[in-house]
Amino acid sequence: MPTKDEKDTFAAENTTGHEWDGIAEFNNPLPRWWLWIFYATIVWSVGYWVVYPSWPLVQSYLPGVLGQSDRADLATTIAEAKQRQGTYLAKIEASDVSEIVADKELFDFASAGGRSAFGLHCSQCHGSGAAGFVGYPNLADDDWLWGGTLADIQHTIQYGIRSDHDETRSNDMPAFLTDETLDKEQINDVAEYVLALSNSGSDAEAAKRGEPLYAENCASCHGDDGKGLREMGGPRLTDAIWLYGGDKASVVKTISFSRKGVMPAWEDKLDPVTIKQLAVYVHSLGGGE
Ligand code: HEC
Ligand code: HEC
Repeated sequence: MPTKDEKDTFAAENTTGHEWDGIAEFNNPLPRWWLWIFYATIVWSVGYWVVYPSWPLVQSYLPGVLGQSDRADLATTIAEAKQRQGTYLAKIEASDVSEIVADKELFDFASAGGRSAFGLHCSQCHGSGAAGFVGYPNLADDDWLWGGTLADIQHTIQYGIRSDHDETRSNDMPAFLTDETLDKEQINDVAEYVLALSNSGSDAEAAKRGEPLYAENCASCHGDDGKGLREMGGPRLTDAIWLYGGDKASVVKTISFSRKGVMPAWEDKLDPVTIKQLAVYVHSLGGGE
């Protein structure tokens, strides 16, 4: 608190006259530039109310003289896109898969659609990049159980594998131990033979004993040379690609109890256009034949 004789360092008339515990409130005007900008925004907002949608009313709102509406714009954009899409979809419906692939523009559209349908319906089993999991085949490599042409893939997707559809691809590997076709020792031997086919065996003696067992029990589905038979869905056993694992324990388990993986049929769940798009997409992943 300034004493009586002390001159206040600040001009007395420059306060609002409010004072608390010796602290006075100054009355400084706002900077001029700030004020002008402030007035300008008020003027601007009035213009804005007139031109653009602004005040809410009870049932609707003031639309503004331009009648601008993001919602209407969106609806038009969607309608336009739908119309463009419709042209493509109709073309896909009328073409077979090989014609779709031959038409670059249509192919781009179809494989994009296929990719999104794959994410929705297939990735839970085959993985989002289609690389598969144990028991669920990789669809991006060139190893095919049932065939990798466009038509093969389309057929597999449409009717499934061991599915409940009448047209399903189906062939069940016997469970050699459960069925008592082979005993444990024989299974060990034939497993060694299978491993030797891909040079991953460890017991040449057993593999030798397994060879005739293979010819008798396995060649009808996996081929005389173990290279697989697609019309049987019998996987190639000579490479390093395994659906159920290529270690001895997994191979013994497959032979003993069989596996019988199920791929659902999609004919009743997806429309033909989506199935074609999926076939085109899967075929384009790298292993298409
Ligand atoms: C419920 C799990 C599951 C779903 C969902 C699924 N699949 Fe499969 N799919 C499998 C299994 C299991 C196999 C292997 C069957 C076998 O052992 O022969 C398979 C095999 C395939 C094959 C054959 C591969 C080959 O090597 O011949 C194709 C192609 C395929 N699936 C595509 C698809 C597409 C496209 C979708 C989505 C529409 C899909 N799958 C959804 C489980 C599934
Ligand atoms: C009637 C046909 C059939 C016969 C016979 C058969 N298999 Fe198979 N095998 C299959 C099919 C189909 C599969 C695919 C897996 C499935 O069931 O999902 C398979 C899978 C396998 C696998 C797993 C391959 C992998 O990639 O993981 C092995 C190993 C195998 N068979 C070995 C044999 C051996 C050894 C014999 C003879 C003792 C045999 N199979 C007899 C049809 C057959």
